Amino acid sequence: MANRLRSCAFVLCFLSLALEVKNGFGLVKENPRACIIGAGYSGLGTARYMKEYGVNFTVFEATKHVGGTWRFDPHVGTDEDGLPLFTSMYKNLRINTPRLTMEYRGFPFPDDTQSFPTGECFHKYLKLFAKHFELEKQIEFQSYVTSIKWAEDHWNITYTKVDKKETRTAECDFVVVANGEFSTPVWPNFEGQDTFKGKMIHSHDYKDPDEYKNRRVLLVGAGPSGLDLAVHLANVTSKLVHSHHLNYNQPYFSNTYIKKPDIEMFTSNGVIFQDNSFEDVDDVIFCTGYVFSHPFLDKSVGITATEKFLLPLYQHMVNIRHPTMVFVGVPKKVLNSVLEAQGEYAAALAAGKFELPPQETMLKAWLKHVRTLHSKGIKILDVNVIGNEMDNYFVNLTQEAGIYRRPPVLTDIRDFNAKYRLDDLLNYRDFDFRIIDDYKYERWYNPRQGNPCPIDD
Ligand SMILES: Cc1cc2nc3c(=O)[nH]c(=O)nc-3n(C[C@H](O)[C@H](O)[C@H](O)COP(=O)(O)OP(=O)(O)OC[C@H]3O[C@@H](n4cnc5c(N)ncnc54)[C@H](O)[C@@H]3O)c2cc1C
Ligand SMILES: *[C@@H]1O[C@H](CO)[C@@H](O)[C@H](O)[C@H]1NC(C)=O
Ligand SMILES: *[C@@H]1O[C@H](CO)[C@@H](O)[C@H](O)[C@H]1NC(C)=O
Ligand SMILES: *[C@@H]1O[C@H](CO)[C@@H](O)[C@H](O)[C@H]1NC(C)=O
Ligand SMILES: *[C@@H]1O[C@H](CO)[C@@H](O)[C@H](O)[C@H]1NC(C)=O
Repeated sequence: MANRLRSCAFVLCFLSLALEVKNGFGLVKENPRACIIGAGYSGLGTARYMKEYGVNFTVFEATKHVGGTWRFDPHVGTDEDGLPLFTSMYKNLRINTPRLTMEYRGFPFPDDTQSFPTGECFHKYLKLFAKHFELEKQIEFQSYVTSIKWAEDHWNITYTKVDKKETRTAECDFVVVANGEFSTPVWPNFEGQDTFKGKMIHSHDYKDPDEYKNRRVLLVGAGPSGLDLAVHLANVTSKLVHSHHLNYNQPYFSNTYIKKPDIEMFTSNGVIFQDNSFEDVDDVIFCTGYVFSHPFLDKSVGITATEKFLLPLYQHMVNIRHPTMVFVGVPKKVLNSVLEAQGEYAAALAAGKFELPPQETMLKAWLKHVRTLHSKGIKILDVNVIGNEMDNYFVNLTQEAGIYRRPPVLTDIRDFNAKYRLDDLLNYRDFDFRIIDDYKYERWYNPRQGNPCPIDD
């Protein structure tokens, strides 16, 4: 399907997709059992609203912990139970969007928290949230979901009880998939890469700057992780070579920092760049981003899942083929507030607080979305990008589901922050933000020594 979509003419694709959609979908049962996959930010946020709306739900979480990617885990590759390590957290990380764009509704950080607390502090916040709303009783920890299957009129969720090494199946009427979209690394493949003798890792496995003390290090990429690691490593390494093509206001990192263009090829002891220059290095960290991974979606689910996109999803959430399945956390280039709003929408749907339109209408809305992208020259690969449409998206969710309308001021903060971050990479986190009303915010300089976290463990 993915290949077909990429290669064929758009109109034909639409037709073939449309034909695969079955008619006749029964709405969510009375008193349904909802199942949520994942107890990260998205799954916890959804669980809170499920509880508020009186939906009977269970969260299946692979690890022993809440908080998903925000939990620092010293293990590399696999966790204490031998599962793939889902978290990508590293030491000294501070959030890169003000906390008020990440807070759950009605559950702010303590007043005196800086606007850009550490990742560790954000994890404490998530643990506090789970405790406050008493969500843990409804989380089945160490439950690693391996398959979600449509079974005529309900969902079969098969999972491994990691501690007992048992396989079990839960039957659910409603499923929320919230397994996180930042745990499967993109591993590039440059010429000569296999001949390089030093250590190569992806930023997913990066933990601690101490490991790079006095080393000659190559960083590849200037996304959020690449820029962050440049800051963390510049004064630790003996040489920091940073290969990327981002055009931004590069700060002074250190006198051992060297900016390079994209990579041409690796040699056994270093790298040749596209300008034919060479640098010898000991270690390489690929900050090349993440791809989607939903290996547990059985064919019967009726979703096309690739590394780049999921389709077709109504409102970037609802599985049109089987609308008792929704995804939380798929939209790209959005604030966490979007995931929070999606959790409320998902719970409102499960609780029967609103009804979805007929499948055909949902499919038409989705096709219209794709056609709009197409007319703007945007590829199907970006079908899950919301980006600048974020405020409209909040409006759409509110109009359909009657959920709280997240204010436009969030979008202004997002736009400002995205730009200002690249103008003043070393200092942008030393400002505090406060929302004045739905349209206005204020911001002032307020650096904190040592980034204290007012939330206790
Ligand atoms: C290094 C890093 C820094 C980031 N910084 C920011 C930031 O500053 N600001 C921001 O807004 N966003 C940031 N993000 C984005 C971040 O992903 C979101 O903030 C948010 O944590 C997403 O939550 P989630 O619940 O969707 O996913 P996750 O936090 O990944 O949680 C998914 C959960 O699902 C579980 N799971 C996965 N597979 C299975 C399975 N098969 N069965 C059962 N359970 C499963 C995992 O164990 C995990 O607990 C960052 C991401 C990374 C990786
Ligand atoms: C909730 O679902 C579980 C599992 O199906 C079931 O055992 C329990 O009775 C349900 N509780 C309520 C209040 O419906
Ligand atoms: C769903 O699970 C139940 C209980 O484990 C099982 O009896 C049934 O055959 C399963 N259905 C499908 C379609 O896998
Ligand atoms: C590294 O240290 C120098 C000298 O103290 C400082 O000017 C520079 O900002 C530091 N670099 C980073 C990325 O923090
Ligand atoms: C919001 O809904 C309108 C009308 O259906 C649609 O055209 C638009 O693409 C939607 N925007 C987003 C971001 O979902």
